[in-house]
Amino acid sequence: MSTAISPTAYNYKVVRQFAIMTVVWGILGMGLGVFIASQLVWPELNFGLPWTTFGRLRPLHTNLVIFAFGGCALFATSYYVVQRTCQTRLISDSLAAFTFWGWQAVIVGAIVTLPLGYTTTKEYAELEWPLAILLAIVWVTYGLVFFGTITKRKTKHIYVGNWFYGAFIVVTAMLHIVNHASLPVSFFKSYSAYAGATDAMIQWWYGHNAVGFFLTTGFLGMMYYFVPKQAERPVYSYRLSIVHFWALITLYIWAGPHHLHYTALPDWAQSLGMIMSLILLAPSWGGMINGMMTLSGAWHKLRTDPILRFLVVSLAFYGMSTFEGPMMAIKTVNALSHYTDWTIGHVHAGALGWVAMISIGALYHLIPKVFGRQQMHSIGLINTHFWLATIGTVLYIASMWVNGITQGLMWRAINDDGTLTYSFVEALQASHPGFIVRALGGAFFAAGMLIMAYNVFRTVRASNPAEAEAAAQIAVVGAH
Ligand code: HEM
Ligand code: HEM
Repeated sequence: MSTAISPTAYNYKVVRQFAIMTVVWGILGMGLGVFIASQLVWPELNFGLPWTTFGRLRPLHTNLVIFAFGGCALFATSYYVVQRTCQTRLISDSLAAFTFWGWQAVIVGAIVTLPLGYTTTKEYAELEWPLAILLAIVWVTYGLVFFGTITKRKTKHIYVGNWFYGAFIVVTAMLHIVNHASLPVSFFKSYSAYAGATDAMIQWWYGHNAVGFFLTTGFLGMMYYFVPKQAERPVYSYRLSIVHFWALITLYIWAGPHHLHYTALPDWAQSLGMIMSLILLAPSWGGMINGMMTLSGAWHKLRTDPILRFLVVSLAFYGMSTFEGPMMAIKTVNALSHYTDWTIGHVHAGALGWVAMISIGALYHLIPKVFGRQQMHSIGLINTHFWLATIGTVLYIASMWVNGITQGLMWRAINDDGTLTYSFVEALQASHPGFIVRALGGAFFAAGMLIMAYNVFRTVRASNPAEAEAAAQIAVVGAH
């Protein structure tokens, strides 16, 4: 069997490119997170310039961490997983390369336009119409590459990880295109095609399902491949994974109205969102349990394998945030939590604990493989990274719980004569210690990413991509 690079080998080049950019954007996005967290501690850091104010940098943070960091992790892993589980090369190298460069172009566009103040004002959908159109084209191409590769698979089954990645790709396209329907009035300004409460509902149908399909379903695809691989155990229950898939995608799409409790949205729609969110606990935990139980008989590996620790702890945070979410969707709980730092804590329990940690674990598994190395340069540094990430996440979410509940209670406290007990500034002052702890937690997490960058750099420097391609060739030819 030839080990020369051949077109029948897997396309690892695009996987390598996306993997490296995940680390780069992770550092920038989280570094910016630490910066905006510090602005809330020391307002002088706004520098009195429009471009550097919290209001403009916050959406840049969310775009960088969700779409640049999270997006590149999803591209890298989905291209890797779809090839390996279908035992075939990506259907088109040039289309795959287009998705890489196109995605980076969208991100650079965000870095330029958001600080300049160009925004649709819709959260997580801020990019103005020229960039939104480019994004749609790149995304549809991604779908073509992914599903095209599935159609030429050499296996009978479509592995369950690909079902999750597939749903994430299809639903993200649908959400993005529908929510971005707008009327451009100039190159940098457009108005939404929807108005009033309808606009709000469509935006939060988008926003919640961006969470459900971008930040959850895609990463569950990652979980279903990398947890069994790293644990060297089959998925705990294949049947549960299918039930998990259908239940999750059927329920998520209805939960968006929980973002609009006590608004002009019809009351029945709010209640529907609340009930669907409560039911959503079941498939979410089904998935978490399926991932966790995959370690049955392999728990001892956690003692020595920090990559597995990243993956398992990410599942624990997934379980935690998908318990917290349904609770916050209960209208009376939301009356306290909404607008407070509790929401921010919930977001980062999911974002840092789940999304970032599973991505980091998957990358530590994948990077040596696509760069032709046995393992990462230093396992010790992965362990250090693991502790920095875990402690950082805990500091972040604990401080936000304290802040959130303090704020919620202070805002609603009323004197006997009906006047407010506390002014807004008093609640803000009470939040200051929590802001400091959050910035510290974020700095821990971001420091871990710098360690990762060094570890990846040393691994890549000693790498042999030709050998990785050759190994990929063997894997295809010698498919089991
Ligand atoms: C070092 C790590 C990070 C730090 C220090 C950080 C910090 C922050 C800060 C200060 C805010 C604004 C909070 C406010 O408005 O009061 C924020 C918002 C946000 N961040 Fe992060 N962040 C980090 C990582 C991440 C990651 C990895 C993700 C996603 C994968 C993420 C997603 C978000 C989202 C979605 C929001 C908006 C939340 C909302 O509107 O409710 N962050 N972050
Ligand atoms: C069963 C699962 C979940 C449910 C039912 C749920 C529910 C909720 C609720 C009720 C809110 C507060 C809405 C508000 O008061 O405005 C919220 C906010 C949020 N959640 Fe979750 N959550 C879940 C899982 C997750 C996960 C796993 C993540 C991240 C990976 C996440 C990310 C977010 C974000 C980013 C927001 C803030 C949106 C914004 O206002 O900008 N959620 N979620």
